[in-house]
Amino acid sequence: MRFRMTGPSLVIDTPAKLNLHLEVLGRRPDGFHDLETVMVSIGLYDTLVLTPADEQIELQCRAGRVGQNAGLPPLGHGNLVLQAAELLRERTGWRQGVSMSLTKRIPMEAGLGGGSSDAAAALVGLNRLWALGLKPRELHAAAARLGSDINFFLDSLPMAVCRGRGEEVEAQPLQGPLWFVVVKPPAGLSTASVFLELKLGAGTRRSSADVVAAAASGDPAKCGASVFNALEAPAIRLSDAVRVALGQLRSERLTGVALSGSGTACYGLCRNRNQAQRAASRLRAAGDQEVFVVQTAI
Ligand code: C5P
Repeated sequence: MRFRMTGPSLVIDTPAKLNLHLEVLGRRPDGFHDLETVMVSIGLYDTLVLTPADEQIELQCRAGRVGQNAGLPPLGHGNLVLQAAELLRERTGWRQGVSMSLTKRIPMEAGLGGGSSDAAAALVGLNRLWALGLKPRELHAAAARLGSDINFFLDSLPMAVCRGRGEEVEAQPLQGPLWFVVVKPPAGLSTASVFLELKLGAGTRRSSADVVAAAASGDPAKCGASVFNALEAPAIRLSDAVRVALGQLRSERLTGVALSGSGTACYGLCRNRNQAQRAASRLRAAGDQEVFVVQTAI
């Protein structure tokens, strides 16, 4: 996350993520799944502007990219940014309001963590704007209440292994930058539907150790050779566009290709920026999907 003040407003650019590894360890009694996943922050940002207000909590959303396929998040109670603001007031008894304006550039229902990143920005930003004095531990507890991926974004980490539901975050060193080409088909997938479609086998579980070591060494070829996502098979069953996007990326001979999160965004890990840009121009010409060239960034 990047912060700046503009007059009375706190402006936060908050990043998307990619999953370099995602293994599902089992189904839990609470209906969630235990995971081992490796996330990296990437340089594709939503912007959240927080301006002090009297008592009300308000949110406006607008599209930040021309030709954006995906819609905008709901503005009602289901919105994670509104939930984050309300949860902080509930936990602290704070009465002051805030006027929030969210510019969306991260596609929704993509597995890129946009909604979670926005919620993390609201938690960290309102803790500053309202001078609530909440400690990191308290912000992490609030984040875990709201969702599974929000904790990763709170501390602006370049890379982490996340366990439990996803909310237990262990920072890892990343020798960067790594360059990616990201393809987002027009249709999205809800995370819940992909987990429902998952068939848990009794086979051996893939460990994140190889990709963590490769990222620490900064070698894109080694890193690409070890990317993995157990949600790929169920996402392909639910969306043929995911199968097509993965196939298009694989024909580019990048160092590795995988689905991010529960999709529908897929990425190819590239040797360098040039390779990512060359692949992106071919992939843009190949269909109506959105294509981004991004590097690891916080
Ligand atoms: O926590 P979040 O709101 O991102 O999760 C959305 C849905 O994805 C959950 O309601 C659940 O169905 C599924 N999920 C899961 N196991 C996880 C994370 C999410 O089953 N670790």
